[in-house]
Amino acid sequence: METLVVDHPLVAHKLTTLRDVRTDSPTFRRLADELVTLLAYEATRDVRVSEVTVETPLTPTRGVRLSRPAPLVVPILRAGLGMLDGMVRLLPTAEVGFLGMIRNEETLAASTYATRLPEDLSGRQCYVLDPMLATGGTLAAAIQYLFDRGAVDVTAICLLAAPEGLAHLAATFENSGHPIRVVTAGLDERLNENGYILPGLGDAGDRLYGVV
Ligand code: URA
Repeated sequence: METLVVDHPLVAHKLTTLRDVRTDSPTFRRLADELVTLLAYEATRDVRVSEVTVETPLTPTRGVRLSRPAPLVVPILRAGLGMLDGMVRLLPTAEVGFLGMIRNEETLAASTYATRLPEDLSGRQCYVLDPMLATGGTLAAAIQYLFDRGAVDVTAICLLAAPEGLAHLAATFENSGHPIRVVTAGLDERLNENGYILPGLGDAGDRLYGVV
């Protein structure tokens, strides 16, 4: 598994404001959106392209276009929805599938409550959006779901990651034979006793959409 912590002053600046408890939901949503676009630039470094010829006003020339099948972007509901616009801004031809997953706050185990994904993901490159890689349980279940349907490689884009979550993903997919990448704006210190990332930014879903 490959982990990329994007090291850029704009990313660090936006992440710091996201962490700030005084940042209100509208500002949080806007910054999360902008941050994802910056992360998406790095996360799509290996997106598959095919060579094409185009005519400039002067002459034919070689270039590239995104290959088919189109990449699949999968936000994990609910908090991953706050990352979707920022991602498809950079990949407008991507298809979007949805995975609704919830973590039991006592056992921290992830369960799936909704799916809207193509049944056959053979040969697809997938980009999973989940703002907080905490224990890694939700993301591991989501990634397994995609591999079970034939996806060939998965990149997870997270605003923040905890070392425990990265270790869980690495151990879960160690022998899977599939490439996995995690691209994040920050690698934090650890989880607290409730499975929240420290220093973190709190509950990403609540900060995006309010407490429900
Ligand atoms: N989910 C969140 O929203 N925040 C955390 O810190 C951990 C899981």
